Amino acid sequence: MKIQIITLFPEMFTGVLNASMLWKAQEQGAVQFEFIDLRDFGIGPRKQVDDTPYGGGDGMLLKPEPLVAAIEQAKKNDPTAKVLLPTPRGKQYKQSDAKRFAAAAPGQGLIIICPRYEGYDERVLKWVDESFYIGNYVLTGGELPAMIFIDSVVRLLPGVLGGESSAEIESFQQDDHNIEFPQYTRPEDFRGDKVPDVLLSGHHAEIEGWRKSHSLPPAE
Ligand code: ADE
Repeated sequence: MKIQIITLFPEMFTGVLNASMLWKAQEQGAVQFEFIDLRDFGIGPRKQVDDTPYGGGDGMLLKPEPLVAAIEQAKKNDPTAKVLLPTPRGKQYKQSDAKRFAAAAPGQGLIIICPRYEGYDERVLKWVDESFYIGNYVLTGGELPAMIFIDSVVRLLPGVLGGESSAEIESFQQDDHNIEFPQYTRPEDFRGDKVPDVLLSGHHAEIEGWRKSHSLPPAE
């Protein structure tokens, strides 16, 4: 799965993409990342990418010409790639979306735009296939939402997470709330707090029953 990222701050991704599971996924060839530096498409000697909003207001907006030129470059690299835009004005991103994008891999490439400043010129939406927000809070740009999106999709790619038990946990995950059950590891007794007996029983049906009955949506 090829993921192209259009950003003014490619260095923000270095730690996240080059550690742990995302690093392993690249090593295995399950995912390839490519960065397109929006600044390269800036206008004039100062490589301008932003401008003031028509109608007045605070802050700056990403100009359409550099952004669309960057998207066109990404499309040249991967003509059938879907263009995604993290924005508070999109629809809520959910686990079912992560599953959908993971299921479409490896054939379906993705291009993720990372807006900055106060947003983008509305006319770029013509080049966007899907826009999404990751939570009811406002961030300074699209880089963190892009990383969250990438992490949630790549961990679902075949072979990336490893162990079948991870897939088992997955089966408990539902769309609106990812149902998880309590888990324990060694020691059996930690400062007087004991692991529930059923989990030590080796009785798979009972363990599954216990996990189901202890699965709750995360606290609000
Ligand atoms: N850009 C700024 N805040 C955002 C959010 N919560 N989700 C997606 N994109 C954003």
